[in-house]
Amino acid sequence: MREAILLVGGQGTRLRPLTINTPKPMLPVAGVPFTVHQILRAREAGVTRLVLATSYKADVFASFLADSALVGPDSGIEVVIATEEVPLGTGGAIRFASAMLESGPDEPVLVFNGDVLTGLDIDGLVNYHQDSQSDVTLYLTRVDDPRAYGLVPTNEAGEVLQFLEKPQTPEEIVTDQINAGCYVFTRNVIDSIPADRAVSVERETFPQLLEANRRVSGVVDPGYWLDLGTPLAFVQGSVDLVRGFAPSPAVTTPSHYLALLGAEISRSAELSNGTTIGAQAQVGAGAVIDGCVVFDGAVIGDRCRIRNSIIGAGAVIENDCTVEGSVVGDGARVGAHNELRDGVRVWANAVIPELAIRFSADQ
Ligand code: GDD
Ligand code: MG
Repeated sequence: MREAILLVGGQGTRLRPLTINTPKPMLPVAGVPFTVHQILRAREAGVTRLVLATSYKADVFASFLADSALVGPDSGIEVVIATEEVPLGTGGAIRFASAMLESGPDEPVLVFNGDVLTGLDIDGLVNYHQDSQSDVTLYLTRVDDPRAYGLVPTNEAGEVLQFLEKPQTPEEIVTDQINAGCYVFTRNVIDSIPADRAVSVERETFPQLLEANRRVSGVVDPGYWLDLGTPLAFVQGSVDLVRGFAPSPAVTTPSHYLALLGAEISRSAELSNGTTIGAQAQVGAGAVIDGCVVFDGAVIGDRCRIRNSIIGAGAVIENDCTVEGSVVGDGARVGAHNELRDGVRVWANAVIPELAIRFSADQ
């Protein structure tokens, strides 16, 4: 038996307004909630039991799991839900969810952040953890700008030297290696995390383990990695899944675009660069949609040009609009001839009259 905890309790603030009704891991990416891609990747790596560590909007996960054939009881991976009444932070969530684990004290337990898309060899990480007899093994990746992440310098033997979460000063930027959001914990290390209070693994548990000279290993993997926490990254992750650049058992045939069941797309519309058109969504004549995620039931008018954007469920974009690098919330209505660029966010159910916006967010 191999067990895992998937951390999905965060509020997804950077993806508002999309995360007002739907927790970030339940947003659809390449046709299924993002969580499904992660659960199927875990199953592929031999995980047979997975605890979803929920807090924010836990009921959305529960009702999805109750109906889903993809990750239901017959799918080869048992998914159970732990719900923190009050969010306990990443460490507190791991400790709380561990009550539902069956692994013994010396067995490895996988932990995943709920918003990272990776090509990691998960099985290889567990093997490394066991071969090196580590207390915790961290999956690391290299990025150009590490400031928004946990910095993790290692020595030549792969031992972690420091853990610096979201460094504040230039002196703290000691490496381009970051915590990529997947760990293997030996079960008894999880048992040593304080129960019933908020704990951050990044700010408290990892630094304390290092202080106590416990063996914390880091494995740098050069493969695909993306944190889907911002709108542009979310779109990028979806596009990369549809196009087959990022691996997922839920995407069997890579393609230039994906149209879900019941989508109505005009024959003169152009869909490209990994765009997904949700179920029952409509795309009008002459519309050009490039690298976008259009959620279920959204309506895109004639001659609209939409790029690198997310259009929420049931939103309506009337004719002749331009939308670039922006987010339109669920149920919003954008009147004809509007131009949304560079990070505009239209709130859920907002109504924008015709010709109201023709400037970018930072003007
Ligand atoms: N159950 C539960 N309870 N889950 C939580 C809680 C909580 O209180 N707080 C956060 N989470 C979950 C989020 O849902 C997410 O899946 C994960 O923990 C990480 O939280 P984020 O809010 O996405 O953190 P981040 O992206 O700023 O930073 C983290 O990920 C980076 C890599 O993507 C850190 O782990 C960084 O060190 C890391 O580099
Ligand atoms: Mg994140």
